[in-house]
Amino acid sequence: MTRIFSGVKPTGHLTLGNYLGAVRQWAEVDQHRADALFSVVDLHALTVDHDPGRVRRLSKQAATLLLASGLDPEACTVFVQSHVDEHARLSYLLECVATDGEMRRMIQYKEKSARERERGGSVRLSLLTYPVLMAADILAYGADEVPVGDDQTQHVELSRDLAVRFNQRYGHTFVVPRATPPAVAARVMDLQDPASKMGKSHDSGAGIVYLLDEPDVVRKKILRAVTDSGTEVEYDREAKPGVSNLLEILAACEGGNPEGLSGVYESYGALKRATAEAVVELLAPLQKRHKELVADPAYVEEVLRRGAERAREMAKPTVDAAYRAIGLLPPT
Ligand code: TYM
Repeated sequence: MTRIFSGVKPTGHLTLGNYLGAVRQWAEVDQHRADALFSVVDLHALTVDHDPGRVRRLSKQAATLLLASGLDPEACTVFVQSHVDEHARLSYLLECVATDGEMRRMIQYKEKSARERERGGSVRLSLLTYPVLMAADILAYGADEVPVGDDQTQHVELSRDLAVRFNQRYGHTFVVPRATPPAVAARVMDLQDPASKMGKSHDSGAGIVYLLDEPDVVRKKILRAVTDSGTEVEYDREAKPGVSNLLEILAACEGGNPEGLSGVYESYGALKRATAEAVVELLAPLQKRHKELVADPAYVEEVLRRGAERAREMAKPTVDAAYRAIGLLPPT
């Protein structure tokens, strides 16, 4: 059976980008067709300046939102990364296979480290080695497929390279994974700045729809979205990035494709109103379920406890095999 692994990082409140680019596909498709694991990857949240209490709260919230989005603990495994030691254990071995040049070429590292330096801050070493830990997340479970948005495909490519290299040097140990981005909304853009990704750790929230935004807040953000010159409602990412982003969001909500919506709306205003209502409708059941789950924290804790137990069982044989293959003496 196909094995799937993916995760979200608790560095901020989950966004519409996270949902359309990844989480919805996990809930609607992936968990039903494969042996799937989904993780709140909290170790990754420590790679940038962080507040310990906030990371703990966001981890709990992210786990709750994954369940509210429809992940069913009977159909898939939901867990918190730091509850399973195998990730950190394997990450060190993969550091011994990866090179520093490879890490420095990663687009996200270049962007995030430049931003930190601009702010006068220092760059944590873990930000550089981040993709190695991500490779460990994937390879520890022998995942064949990694459903992620566009921004993560380079990291998944690196995981492939590390798996192939390890297997060639030390004997076949890892499955070589591949990224499986969604056909629509693989890259949802910021509503105020359609040249950049809608990201949860952005400084201003005006262009970001959060999954827990109230309906009126969602409407306001979408109605105030930056659009482009001209008046035609056409899908053209280059010439009309703002309008195309709205078309992409609307198409994703309705289950169609954005090209098919070109020419359907007579004005930018009509497109915005339709998109706002579609997003409000999409989020309503998730928000309702989230409220119920918040009222039952013991249930969420139990799901995470069982999830970590299952994940540990799945990861340990592969990680142990990697320790032996690379030349470490097994304990007696
Ligand atoms: P993270 O937490 O930034 O995002 C979680 C998922 O949401 C997708 N995504 C988007 N998709 C479309 N449009 C957007 N604007 C948008 N923003 C985010 C991401 O592509 C991702 O699929 N490094 C990962 C977490 C991670 C992981 C892993 C993922 C750690 N280990 C192993 C897969 C497998 C990250 O920061 O995702």
